[in-house]
Amino acid sequence: MTATILLTGGAGYIGSHTHVALVAAGYRPVILDDFSNAAGDVPERLARISGTEPRVWRGSVLDAALLDEIFAVERIDAVVHFAARKAVGESVRMPLEYVETNVVGLVTLLKAMRAAGVFRLVYSSSATVYGVPDRLPIPEDAATGFTNPYGYTKLAGEQLLEQLAASDPRWAFGVLRYFNPAGAHGSGLIGEDPRDVPNNLMPYIAKVAVGELPELRVFGDDYDTPDGTGVRDYIHVEDLAEGHVLSLAALMRDGRGHLVNLGTGCGFSVLQMLAAYSEACGRRLPHVVVPRRAGDIAACWADPSRAAELLGFRARRGIGEMCASSWAWVSRRQRN
Ligand code: WQD
Repeated sequence: MTATILLTGGAGYIGSHTHVALVAAGYRPVILDDFSNAAGDVPERLARISGTEPRVWRGSVLDAALLDEIFAVERIDAVVHFAARKAVGESVRMPLEYVETNVVGLVTLLKAMRAAGVFRLVYSSSATVYGVPDRLPIPEDAATGFTNPYGYTKLAGEQLLEQLAASDPRWAFGVLRYFNPAGAHGSGLIGEDPRDVPNNLMPYIAKVAVGELPELRVFGDDYDTPDGTGVRDYIHVEDLAEGHVLSLAALMRDGRGHLVNLGTGCGFSVLQMLAAYSEACGRRLPHVVVPRRAGDIAACWADPSRAAELLGFRARRGIGEMCASSWAWVSRRQRN
């Protein structure tokens, strides 16, 4: 029988790509999204990609009554939880709203799951829980901490799930620590679609490439890295989506939880990403070096071996494909 999966935040960047991957894997995803950070026509574009009309509920994970209705009407078998606020800088300005959405929202969802007898959840965590890494590549047993309210909420969510699973063996959680998601779906129909000036590197470079922003500001070139600019583990959003499908399948199959990094194991610098994007869009992209951004670390990349061992997950797409798919998405978006 086809398993029905609730995707909270399923109209968002990673949620929408996971929707496509779940349909392709034979699941029946149901989207819950308040569309605070997603365009209203994402479901229509998902229908064009997958050939089926997505099931969509508009609302918040903070709405307990709505969650109860969804679990009753849709007969949910498991949950993939994306709905969260995720901008580091914004979290410093709005800690209360970040705790409310990211932690209270998770609690509200878990209580609705328990009432409905649903005990499988895949949780979006982040490499940000490693803070300043004490070694590279970063394994899952590296020290964790937080340097901003966003990182606090991600770590608090992980620790809540750990306590809950220890209290009741019916629960099983797939905790996925994303490194740096980038790129877009190969169809060019969905991708990262930030409302304001992007904080993250790839979407910012994309807006320079389409002429919406004048140049990339490189936040410091005096780090202890090969070219002095920040090094990160960029992972294609379609690889990330496939990692969620593997995590869900493992939970449904074994009923045992897992916590894994989702990264490539390779680090690339800001200037390397800029060069790769210039290659993808066919022109040199302007940049200026400015002082470091507060809170940034020099380098961060994953040890991806546990995800390979436990889930059979390996990222397959490189930075060239991330840039090419992002360029196809933003240039198509600009034309439409
Ligand atoms: C990458 C590199 C910047 C923008 C954050 C969150 C993390 C996760 C991913 C949610 C750094 C440099 C960036 C720019 C630049 N989010 N940069 N100019 O900071 O590694 O991670 O996003 O889960 O939790 O912390 O990603 O893309 O902001 O920065 O030079 O305009 O690009 O200094 O070296 P980051 P990022």
